[in-house]
Amino acid sequence: MDTPAASGLPLAFHGTVIHSLTPTTVEILHDCFLLVNAEGKIQLLLPETDRSRISAIVAENGYAPDVFPVKYLARGQFLCPGFVDTHNHAPQWAQRGVGRGRNLLDWLDTVTFPHEAKFADREYAQTMYAQCVAGFLQQGITTAAYYGSRHGEASSILAQTCLEKGQRALVGRCNMNRHAPEWYCDGSAEESLAETREFVEGVHRLDPEGDLVTPVLTPRFAISCDEGVLAGLGQLAAQYDNLPIQTHFNEARDEMEFTKQLFPGFASETALYERFGLLNSRSILAHSIFVDEAEMARLETLQCGIAHCPIANTTIGGFMVAPVREYLRRGIKVGLGTDSGGGYSSSMLEVMKQAFIVSNARQLFTKGADEPLCLYEGFFLATLGGAQVCGLDGKIGNFAVGKEFDALEIHTGEGVRGVMSPVEDEDSIEVIFEKFLMTGDDRNIAKVYVRGRSVKDC
Ligand code: GUN
Ligand code: FE
Repeated sequence: MDTPAASGLPLAFHGTVIHSLTPTTVEILHDCFLLVNAEGKIQLLLPETDRSRISAIVAENGYAPDVFPVKYLARGQFLCPGFVDTHNHAPQWAQRGVGRGRNLLDWLDTVTFPHEAKFADREYAQTMYAQCVAGFLQQGITTAAYYGSRHGEASSILAQTCLEKGQRALVGRCNMNRHAPEWYCDGSAEESLAETREFVEGVHRLDPEGDLVTPVLTPRFAISCDEGVLAGLGQLAAQYDNLPIQTHFNEARDEMEFTKQLFPGFASETALYERFGLLNSRSILAHSIFVDEAEMARLETLQCGIAHCPIANTTIGGFMVAPVREYLRRGIKVGLGTDSGGGYSSSMLEVMKQAFIVSNARQLFTKGADEPLCLYEGFFLATLGGAQVCGLDGKIGNFAVGKEFDALEIHTGEGVRGVMSPVEDEDSIEVIFEKFLMTGDDRNIAKVYVRGRSVKDC
């Protein structure tokens, strides 16, 4: 926890730095001098800098050269941006891996709701959320868009835990006042909304500037919210004009069918959420698998973001593939989500690899029209794309000067435990990077920084 930046001193690195500039462009900077100021912001990013020049550069920027150590990264070590998980259920941390093969609504009733109901107990919430946030930080997830349970108190504990452990997060309390068991269901629409209002204000008090933690409006999905709740959340979104919104969207055939029955006046989920004021440039739409042409055009106009969750999409309810290539073609924002615990893995590297696999399936289904994702697109979705979806790309997602330093220090090669493909003498940095993305794991993530604070073992 006591990194130089966290203790009010700058932080500096010299070596290889890798980040995305666009969906298909990764920039690899060699012999780069990267300086993070005491506020955790990137002050200098200077590629091709000879070590001998560092003292002079530091002095030119107003620092006494001996104030802080420069970390020299060896061959096989590099910095990359932290991962952004655009869809994650914190209270499902202890149920990951359970319930494979059930369809969505059955899985919610039999596995998820009984489990989430346990978060009525504040001590359970404290214990579980401490493990959960530490676990995701260990995987290099520097930002997470979390769904809490339906409990305001437990969701505030989640926000507090993120602050204490130093994880950047959007934290939501689930609104769900129908089609859930009575022991895990909000009361009236008024009660559901009052608890959300109190939760939002509580998170604003914890982090008034939203430096690290922001509340996010979270109608769980349309099935679990009556019209009063959806309308009230739309009003809250208008009242606090910077509040993000997240929901499950066009995720499964049975879910969509039931939503149609409940809201027969609406042609689609897009029409429904738009009518209630819940679709705008701050909306994060999880899954978004079955989206027709008219809906797609509307999402593009409204600048909504998509949380692509390929592991969950191929674990619960069969093998479903979202039209990610089409989203990218249209310039719709897309990021990746673990959807932990619908998704069994807490690793964004695993999510990225599953995104590659399902994009191959998509190519097959579209008779070649949708090109599979390339390696650099996968990395983009896990970092800068996710930051765009969360409305944070002005702050994080790559190493542009002025952004906050949310980063991973990757160690590969001899002496590093794990199962990554060995680094060989002839390997270029491009090959080492590819080996890390495709075969590395958290053992290669030596350090995790959020706003310049070292947080991996918090
Ligand atoms: N739809 C409503 N709730 C959930 C949930 O917890 N997980 C997933 N994957 N879909 C949902
Ligand atoms: Fe989900």
